[in-house]
Amino acid sequence: MRLMWARKLGLMMAVAGFCAAAVSSAQNATSAYDAAKHVFRLDGGDVTYAFGVNREGQLQTVYWGARLRADDPLNQPAPMGRPFELTDTPQEFAGWGGGLTTEPSLKITFPDGNRDLVLHYLSHQVRGNEIEVTLKDIEREIYVTLHYKMDGQTGILKRSAEVTNKTHSPLVVEEMQAGSWNLPRSSKYSLHYLSGRWGGEDQLQTRSVSAAETVLESRRGFTGHEFAPWFAISENGAVTETAGKIWFGALAWSGSWRITVQQDELQQVRVTGGFNPFDFAYPLEPGQSLRSPEFYGGFAAHGYEEMSHLESEFQRAQVLPQAPHPRLRPVLYNSWEATEFRVSEEGQEQLAEKAASIGVERFVMDDGWFSTRKDDHAGLGDWYPDPDKFPHGLKPLIARVHALGMDFGLWVEPEMVNENSDLYRKHPDWIIHFDGRPRTQARSQFVLNLAIPEVRAYVFGVLDKLLSENQIAFLKWDANRNWSEPGWPQMAADRQKMIYVRYIENYYSILRELRAKHPHIEIESCSGGGGRVDLGVMRYTDEVWTSDNTDPFDRLSIQNGFSYAYTPQVMMAWVTDSPNWYNHRMTSLTYRFLSAMQGSLGIGADLNKWTPQDFATAKQMIAEYKAMRDVVQHGTLHRLASPQDGSNFAATESVSPDERKAVVFAFLHSEQMQYPAPVVHPRGMREDAVYTVRALGGNLEAGTPPKASGAYWMNHGFSFRLEGDYAAAAAIFEAQP
Ligand code: GLA
Repeated sequence: MRLMWARKLGLMMAVAGFCAAAVSSAQNATSAYDAAKHVFRLDGGDVTYAFGVNREGQLQTVYWGARLRADDPLNQPAPMGRPFELTDTPQEFAGWGGGLTTEPSLKITFPDGNRDLVLHYLSHQVRGNEIEVTLKDIEREIYVTLHYKMDGQTGILKRSAEVTNKTHSPLVVEEMQAGSWNLPRSSKYSLHYLSGRWGGEDQLQTRSVSAAETVLESRRGFTGHEFAPWFAISENGAVTETAGKIWFGALAWSGSWRITVQQDELQQVRVTGGFNPFDFAYPLEPGQSLRSPEFYGGFAAHGYEEMSHLESEFQRAQVLPQAPHPRLRPVLYNSWEATEFRVSEEGQEQLAEKAASIGVERFVMDDGWFSTRKDDHAGLGDWYPDPDKFPHGLKPLIARVHALGMDFGLWVEPEMVNENSDLYRKHPDWIIHFDGRPRTQARSQFVLNLAIPEVRAYVFGVLDKLLSENQIAFLKWDANRNWSEPGWPQMAADRQKMIYVRYIENYYSILRELRAKHPHIEIESCSGGGGRVDLGVMRYTDEVWTSDNTDPFDRLSIQNGFSYAYTPQVMMAWVTDSPNWYNHRMTSLTYRFLSAMQGSLGIGADLNKWTPQDFATAKQMIAEYKAMRDVVQHGTLHRLASPQDGSNFAATESVSPDERKAVVFAFLHSEQMQYPAPVVHPRGMREDAVYTVRALGGNLEAGTPPKASGAYWMNHGFSFRLEGDYAAAAAIFEAQP
């Protein structure tokens, strides 16, 4: 379908009124400008995005949705507004000025007190799958360049904006967004977003979009657990997993961010996102620029599944550090829940031996290995191995892990410092704080101010040293608290708020530089569980820690929410002990495995407590996982039955890209009144191929045929025999040659 469009488009551009059309064949995306109508257009995947210059000179959205024919009429947009409502025009990037009452993308205060900014089209460049448009204030030398880049595979559009001060005086940017996404006018939309907290991330929420503004944001300095920087807007009532139109987007920023969804007085819906303007002020000297975070947006015509599929494909092919072909995640073992801070060389080696015996590929030593770290009150900041626990450094343990056939990973929390640490005693002014004010501690720690060049150099230095001196394949980079008292006293008073941008830029640059210098390194983004998951950090990290809540039942809804925005490739899920430390729930080892096998599998249990039977189960499940992980991590996800809202039954299915393999995971919360488990109808198989089926971890209902066509499985369906509480099983389908 997509390829067909791309080929047709190449031919049709010739007959349409679009000149300067460029077809980027490698990417199947095009960009074009129709000079007669002043309309720009980008096409990619099954999506068309168009905007134009209206007669007032503003940049106005024309269309965003399913792909149009190349010769379809896209007319110059007309400004909107009525006598008492001056400025409802759906602008791509509105300056705050000229009576604007809708969300601005840019707000500036000039030194003379002027705060009026009216941006008009100045010039553009169209090349390949990209468009750049420059806007200028109607009077002052303020230039804004808007960047658009269309992905040919998925139709996901990347947008950002850069403001440059070409006046002769400094000014202050008080609000900087990537721009606005304007949806087709309608009063019948629903907004979907992910809310959460520590141990309860990514809960899918839905509310109708009405005459009001909804604000999703973080004011915490980091991405945060509270909301994911992601949105999806669907047509009311018309959207299911497999049908209906959805517009969706995600911000690539790991600091304080904001996304607003506003329905204005003419019932137009605009989504605006970028730096959080709360407490924001970024001074620009003459000649200086500020670039907004990138804001990605996409469109799916066939329901939530298609949206997730496009996002997943895009993140793997365009965002992740190993894009376009990120390698499959190795099965890892992490020692945290087994030992917490009670780390020793001998204890770690014992765990490593046991982990290797079940097929683990990567052994990760978590918190507790360094300095005086016996609990969470001391040691953060002093990144050398605890001489009592590791008298000969990390090398002997790493050598043992290698000898066992695994690679070695290490937990670090480089942005943090305990009051009780050499680093804090030496540099108490290196943390984020206001002079003379209390310094709020959380988990007994402060946040180092990475915006300070010396702090950035220190953090890079300790990590570089660890990686240079030891054969470390993987870092779990944690950040266990949010900011407080966000001061930067070393800076002049009017420059301190730059911390919101500079800190995160330095954080990214450390990750970038470490990866460049140590190209084999892989990194996990963790922040007290899933507090730092966004498309910004995903450019530099290979996976994310989904949640500290490792209860396999709670995880079903956390993972379900996660899957609406992010690829299963990066979703780390561990098998831990029962009863679970977080909520004391008891579940079988099989249930725990099947829950975790829906993402990137890890083991986080205390292997010293396992029985021979547990080892045998784990060995079998890990072998099964290795055989199916390409399907789970790179396949298409189908959410067959949602675990949300008190549901008693949940099921997901992953289908391989060639549709020859599928795996269905099913979970019964509680058997009630002896009702049999629901019938499952898998999707995405080839109707005419014949698939064998076998059960894993449980049983299929008696009478289930050992093989049948895709049409049979999808239409007739099948069921599992699930009995009792917290019962789980999987079914593995393979097409016959
Ligand atoms: C955070 C992480 C955990 C673990 C601890 C260690 O809570 O999310 O997985 O690493 O820190 O202190």
